[in-house]
Amino acid sequence: MPTDDPAAPPPPSNRRAVIATIFNQKGGVGKTTTSVNLATCLAAGGVRVLVIDFDPQGSATANLGLIGRPVPGSYELLMTGTLSATLMQTTAFPGVMLCPAGDALAGADLELAICTDAQNLLRQALHNARVPIDVIIIDCPPTLSMLALNALVASDAVVMPVTPDPMARDVLHRAWRHIQRIRSTLNPNLAIAGVVLTMVHDNPVHREFEQTIRGELGNRVLPVAIPFDTAILGSSRHDLPVCVFAPQSAAAQAYLALAAVIQDRMSALSRPVAQPAAFCDDTDGAEPACVMTPVPGFSHDTAAAALRFWSSKAGHTEPPAPVTKAATVAAPTAGRAPASGWHSPDRITGFAAGCVLGIVLTLLARAIGL
Ligand SMILES: Nc1ncnc2c1ncn2[C@@H]1O[C@H](COP(=O)(O)OP(=O)(O)O)[C@@H](O)[C@H]1O
Ligand SMILES: [Mg+2]
Repeated sequence: MPTDDPAAPPPPSNRRAVIATIFNQKGGVGKTTTSVNLATCLAAGGVRVLVIDFDPQGSATANLGLIGRPVPGSYELLMTGTLSATLMQTTAFPGVMLCPAGDALAGADLELAICTDAQNLLRQALHNARVPIDVIIIDCPPTLSMLALNALVASDAVVMPVTPDPMARDVLHRAWRHIQRIRSTLNPNLAIAGVVLTMVHDNPVHREFEQTIRGELGNRVLPVAIPFDTAILGSSRHDLPVCVFAPQSAAAQAYLALAAVIQDRMSALSRPVAQPAAFCDDTDGAEPACVMTPVPGFSHDTAAAALRFWSSKAGHTEPPAPVTKAATVAAPTAGRAPASGWHSPDRITGFAAGCVLGIVLTLLARAIGL
C-alpha cells in the first residue's frame, strides 16, 4: 500500500508524473465524482495520485474531506508555477494527495486573461515538477475556460465523463471538437484515454444511447460504465468518495473496474519507448515530451481490501450490501448510513409520537369537559 512519507526519495530528475484531465463542458455529468473515485481506487491499488481541484466550486476538495481549510492549492500552483510540497495536502487516504481549490481560484480566469502565455502556466509547473507521484488527475470546471485550457494543455490524456442523454451527447461532440483543436495546436501529445458513461440506468433508453455512442466513438468509449447509484448521494453528504463510503455498492465496484482500465492506459502512455500507446491510434505519431514515471501495476484485490479498510476507519464498518442497478432506483436508502437532518428516521419517529400524544391529550380534555 502506498504511503505519503515526506521522506520518500524524489523520483529520478528526468521523470515526471503522468497527467490526466477529467473534462466535459457540461456540468453535472460526474467529472468530480470520477476524479475523486478514480484517484482513491488507484491509490488503494498502490498508485501514488495527486488530485488537482481546478474547479472554483471546490467539490473535489469537499469530497476528499478538506473543505474549509485555508491552505494554498491550485491557484497558487498556477501563479507560482511550482508544484511545491506545501501545495499538496495529505488526505485520509494514503496515496491520495490533494492540491485543493481555494476562494482565490474563482478569480483566476480573469487574471489569466491578461497574462502572456497564459495557457501554458500549468504545463510548465507540472512538467517541471519532480514529486513522488505517479499519476496527476485534474478535476476541471464545466466550461472551456482558461483553467480548463491550462489543464488540457498540461495533460497527457483526457477522460470525458458523459451521461446517457441526448443533450449531453451534443455537448460531448462539441468537447470532442475542442479537444481535436487543442491537439492540432497547443498539445499534440494529448491522448483521449476515453469517454466514460456515468449515471447509467438499466433501461432501454440508456441502453440505446450506449449503443449509439459506442457506434460513433468505437473503443474510445471505455468498457466500464458507472451506474446511477444513490450511494453516491450519501457519500457526498459525508464528504467521502463512494468507494470508501460504500465499497460494495455498484458505483464503487464500477469505479474500481474503471481504475484498472485507466491504470492500463496510463501505464501505456508512460512507457519510455518510441511508439505511441496502442489505444491512442489518432495521435499522429506524437511522442511524449519527456520520460514519465512508469505507473505501477494495479491489483484489484489489494485495492478492494484497502478500500474496505479505509471504509471501516471512516466509520462504515458494515458497508451496504451490493446494490443492483434496479435496486438503486427502487430502494434509494436501503442499507445506507442513517440520514441526519429533518428526514432522519429518529426525527420522523419523534414527530409521530408527538402527534399521537397531542391527539390523546385533546381527547382527554374533551372527555373531562375542558
Ligand atoms: N453514478 C452516479 N449515480 C448517482 N448520482 C451521481 C453519480 N455520479 C454523480 N452523481 C451525482 O451527480 C451530481 C453531479 O456529479 P459531479 O461529479 O459533481 O458532476 P460534475 O463534476 O460533472 O459537475 C452530484 O450530486 C453527484 O453526487
Ligand atoms: Mg465538478
